[in-house]
Amino acid sequence: MSKPQIRPASGAQYSRIHGVGGYRPVRVIPNAEVLEWIDSSDEWIRTRSGIEQRRWAGPEESVSEMSVQAAGKAIAQAGIAPEQIGGVIVATVSHLKQTPAIATEIAERLGCGTAPAFDISAACAGFGYGLGLADGMIRGGNAEYVLVIGVERLSDLTDKSDRSTAFIFGDGAGAAIVGPSDSPGIGKLIWGSDGSQKDVISQTQAWDTAFAQPGAINGTGDEVKWPALRMEGQPVFRWAVWEMAKVAQQALDAAGITADQLGAFIPHQANMRITDAMIKALKLPASVPVARDIAETGNTSAASIPLAMERMLESGEARSGDLALIIGFGAGLVYAATVVTLP
Ligand code: UT7
Repeated sequence: MSKPQIRPASGAQYSRIHGVGGYRPVRVIPNAEVLEWIDSSDEWIRTRSGIEQRRWAGPEESVSEMSVQAAGKAIAQAGIAPEQIGGVIVATVSHLKQTPAIATEIAERLGCGTAPAFDISAACAGFGYGLGLADGMIRGGNAEYVLVIGVERLSDLTDKSDRSTAFIFGDGAGAAIVGPSDSPGIGKLIWGSDGSQKDVISQTQAWDTAFAQPGAINGTGDEVKWPALRMEGQPVFRWAVWEMAKVAQQALDAAGITADQLGAFIPHQANMRITDAMIKALKLPASVPVARDIAETGNTSAASIPLAMERMLESGEARSGDLALIIGFGAGLVYAATVVTLP
């Protein structure tokens, strides 16, 4: 008797992004307000990071609420019903309740039925990681449409007295619907990690250490140091400039695309100077529009690429059907780059 064989799952031959949407919190924090917390200057912040303002979420603008708003726009642009979504992936490092995953609540609020829903922690590369997973799920036959969300409330993890990070981070959500396609709409994902540099961007302390502090439980809590994000800016900056340009080039090569064929370059909005250094290293022609959303939005980690993508499409800087090179990089260290067709 022949051995029983599992029927292999198979899905669409290709996938693409069908819709993108973003949510930006109402409250704008200009550099002038940051100067109330740290010894700095508007000029220093602008020239060193390119940031002019960022948005910080209010109490009602939770991780779940911002995600639902962004996802609603992506679903509308894709022209699908929420019930058609067969997977919800939420990339975030700032959903403070570890269990359950925030993705299940978001899936339920959106009306995605029993869609599998889970969170991933891949910091500023989270959107790219999610996109790669969605592409695999669709082509592997495990979902028809997948919702990928990058969302952060980094203001909850920002130490307003830390002058090396207080001006950088912002809040927001970006979402994309990934689904089947007749032609390739997402290139090979060039992704990876370097755990030897795990300490260069990290939470100052674990939650258990924070709660073990005197006064943390049943005390006034006044003396408790709330965990925050800490970053050694220079090593991260050097790594981003030297190593990430190579990763971006690999993504172009793997997709068989040259820089001059791009309709947009959408790097993670970490620092305007990192973006400029990458443009140089990639020899990107001046005709290729570049995302510079950081000026108004700050660094929103997992949300930054879909937010910047939405802005470029809305402003007409980039057009539907254009090819875009995206690259995310950050805490881990982790990175992910690919070429996509814009929705
Ligand atoms: O999203 C995840 C990935 N993250 C990134 O890719 C961020 C990468 N890093 C960066 O973007 C930059 O390193 C920062 C924007 C964070 C900092 O810029 P930098 O040019 O690397 O500044 P630095 O830390 O080397 O500091 C330069 C000088 C120092 O003074 P001296 O020693 O030259 O006199 C600092 O004390 O600037 C001083 N400084 C400041 N001055 C005014 C540091 N922070 C501030 C500040 N305002 N907020």
